[in-house]
Amino acid sequence: MSEQVLPVLPQFAAKAYVDQAKYRQMYQASIDDPVAFWAEHGKRVDWIKPYTQVKDVDFTGDVHIRWFHDGVLNVAANCIDRHLARRGDQTAIIWEGDDPAESKHITYREMHAQVCRLANALKTQGVKKGDRVTIYLPMIPEAAYAMLACARIGAIHSVVFGGFSPDSLVNRIEDCGSSIVITADEGLRGGRKVPLKANADAALKKCPGVKTVIVVKRTGGAINWVAGRDLWYHEVCAQAAADCPPEPMNAEDPLFILYTSGSTGKPKGVLHTSGGYLVFTAMTHQYVFDYHDGDVYWCTADVGWVTGHSYIVYGPLANGATTLMFEGIPNWPDSSRFWQVIDKHKVNTFYTAPTAIRALMREGEAPVKKASRASLRLLGSVGEPINPEAWLWYHRVVGDGRCPIVDTWWQTETGGILITPLPGATPLKPGSATLPFFGIKPAVVDANGAELQAPGTGNLVLTDSWPGQMRTVYGDHQRFIDTYFSTYKGCYFTGDGCRRDEDGYYWITGRVDDVINVSGHRMGTAEVESALVAHPKVAESAVVGYPHDLKGQGIYAYVTLKAGIEPSEELRKELVAHVRKEIGPIAAPDLIQWAPGLPKTRSGKIMRRILRKIAENEHGNLGDTSTLADPAVVDDLVSNRMNRS
Ligand code: PRX
Repeated sequence: MSEQVLPVLPQFAAKAYVDQAKYRQMYQASIDDPVAFWAEHGKRVDWIKPYTQVKDVDFTGDVHIRWFHDGVLNVAANCIDRHLARRGDQTAIIWEGDDPAESKHITYREMHAQVCRLANALKTQGVKKGDRVTIYLPMIPEAAYAMLACARIGAIHSVVFGGFSPDSLVNRIEDCGSSIVITADEGLRGGRKVPLKANADAALKKCPGVKTVIVVKRTGGAINWVAGRDLWYHEVCAQAAADCPPEPMNAEDPLFILYTSGSTGKPKGVLHTSGGYLVFTAMTHQYVFDYHDGDVYWCTADVGWVTGHSYIVYGPLANGATTLMFEGIPNWPDSSRFWQVIDKHKVNTFYTAPTAIRALMREGEAPVKKASRASLRLLGSVGEPINPEAWLWYHRVVGDGRCPIVDTWWQTETGGILITPLPGATPLKPGSATLPFFGIKPAVVDANGAELQAPGTGNLVLTDSWPGQMRTVYGDHQRFIDTYFSTYKGCYFTGDGCRRDEDGYYWITGRVDDVINVSGHRMGTAEVESALVAHPKVAESAVVGYPHDLKGQGIYAYVTLKAGIEPSEELRKELVAHVRKEIGPIAAPDLIQWAPGLPKTRSGKIMRRILRKIAENEHGNLGDTSTLADPAVVDDLVSNRMNRS
């Protein structure tokens, strides 16, 4: 762990919204009187009917979380309409295609017309306030239009990442009961086509409730067409009016559902509502990225993840920013692509994931130096812990030593950034997400729930609410209570471990539950296990994470085959392909170990702690194994382990 401290750059602090003194003063005010603090900061968005109530939260009992709950607003109007008078002709979205020859600028006025047309088209298809709309699109502007069109008419969107399989799409459509899907003929990534419509067709065979599919023509590739169900996006929009009044929404009306993996069961539908979410994402976007008028801001996430929701679409657009949306991948046509895009569009702020930084670091400095990156002012990191080595490379090589790095810790559930440096205020320590944002009260607790007062290591909880917090698990409030509020009474449990140092800085160490983080993508080990046991040759499986140089964590699967089935290289490949098909490529196991048996207690519970140690190549230190039903099983697993690094 690095203990190097990089002071705030005076020239950065001079221009920033918040310097060190202001951070301390604002943070203290936000903790001393959260109601007064948020009453003030809630005004940053336009309300159709202003709130008189600010906070109504109880983390105990049935758990309820409400912010600004008698206020009325429309999120899309805040992201578009209110900017028209002053910035109608300003670029809202810079779209950079997969092919470097393809890009376009969309102004706020153009976006208004696009969103209104689609909103009207959705209404024509019978979509009403509160209905769920599933969006399964590549990184094209239509993805943002679709989200905003839903927000405009009060429909709840559920964006499903384009890399998910048909079966994953089925689960998500069924869980929220949506009867309409917006997709594209094909996506384009790294020169390769992604068969989105074909995937959707396969999924919809199992979703009889879906009556309408709106299809964006992205590549023009041949697709199957279901008459009476499928409609071309460009046709329905051409027929619709270019003005659609925004629906007045209560602050607590749902804005979207986003599915994310947990330690048990199927992915949960994380529900975010309108007012608090918008206030929080707009405010964090402004302060964390120190966004000023005229800046060009680029977040490389996919809109299928929460980072894309909060920091490509809602936060930046609520601030009237220029946000760049990138269809491609970092190493296509070559590994200089990110830096070329930065020069091409004069990007000032660049926000990406450690996994991308580590992959590009492997390519050396030459691809970075091919571009000037002269426009860069600030760098950001999100999605997983960033190792100090990658942090320092990002700072020295990409930022030429002159751009602060904001390492932002947050989650799908938190809606926005909670622990982060502010670039004009916070001295940086490579590898640390540093200090809490305004209004955030983190605590480190031990296994018994006792709060550490001194520096130390434990589990990270939040002792109070913030406006961007998720409100429930869609359709299963009990699961919300059980998952987040029952481990430590009265606190929101993050699922992350962390260390707090002598300066009060937070160092997130990663998940402490059965969730793994593969290249910044969150994956439940239980999901991968159930995909594996769905294969006819598999009797049992246990999946754990292990340290992976590029991905942060890799997926390590122990597989017990059914009696009479022989292990082989071919079968290994078959199982990897099977998981890719069931969940999606991001869930493909990196290592599969054939396990004649799994280590179990006498009552039959799999001892995952031991499996983790073996996968991490830490088998010399297995801890207490006295409760094992059959110790010989462990000897076999250790001697045939797959990770010997
Ligand atoms: O373990 C933490 C890790 O990612 C988890 C949340 O994943 P997800 O809901 O997919 O959201 C990712 C984007 C916000 C967290 O529980 N994580 C996220 N950011 C960081 C991080 N771990 C360390 N440092 C971060 N900056």
